Amino acid sequence: MKKSKKILLPLSYKKKTRRPLSEKQKRLLRFNLQKFLFKKNFSTKKKIFLEIGFGYGENLINLGKKNIDELIIGCEVYEPGIANLVKKIEINNLKNICIYPKNTFSLLEKLKKNSIEKIFMLYPDPWPKKKHFKRRLISKFFLEKIDKILKKNGLIFISTDSENYLNTILIEFFLNRNFLWIDKKITNCYERPEKLIESKYEKKATMKGNKKYFLKFKKIC
Ligand SMILES: C[S@@+](CC[C@H](N)C(=O)[O-])C[C@H]1O[C@@H](n2cnc3c(N)ncnc32)[C@H](O)[C@@H]1O
Repeated sequence: MKKSKKILLPLSYKKKTRRPLSEKQKRLLRFNLQKFLFKKNFSTKKKIFLEIGFGYGENLINLGKKNIDELIIGCEVYEPGIANLVKKIEINNLKNICIYPKNTFSLLEKLKKNSIEKIFMLYPDPWPKKKHFKRRLISKFFLEKIDKILKKNGLIFISTDSENYLNTILIEFFLNRNFLWIDKKITNCYERPEKLIESKYEKKATMKGNKKYFLKFKKIC
């Protein structure tokens, strides 16, 4: 009998919350999150942007405010971050954001083919120890997944403060013929694109004196 090949999905490495959730955070997740949840068979004529691993959601809120006519989907597994985003969506009365509070790989299976205009990944976890490299989100497998959901000419914005991860990201994109690195000059990767704002992680990276890199890729076929 033929053995079926089992595809192992990368796990979502849920961060340990240092402090337990406050009562307010628990309420936000239990009651308020519901109305912003991503629904699998949604239909929209709007352009769709996706932010993966939005952390505390600063950039996502900014995208929501600046792109009122687009739909912004945010994916994150870190509960305090999700609670913070829910709070900010309500304070800013934004109607164009929805949240997928689970592993991005399960979201990528639910999104329609060629449906996403732009993907944002600000400082995906660098996992600096060699033994943890396999936990990194950006891999050959991941690129195959985003290739499916991204429209032709769709863009991917990625930032990182890890030189080792930067190399891996560039290699993985170079190896996938459907994507092109489109920064016009190499020095562009030292400047944050105007549409991105400084996230919480970036502030910490700046304080540590780390170099930050901003990459832009296009799906060309
Ligand atoms: C280093 S933090 C950066 C957060 C934010 N983008 C920023 O710049 O402040 C990476 C984030 O990705 C999230 N993350 C990691 N793996 C994920 C996955 N498989 N699905 C969804 N989110 C994930 C983590 O929970 C974490 O909040």
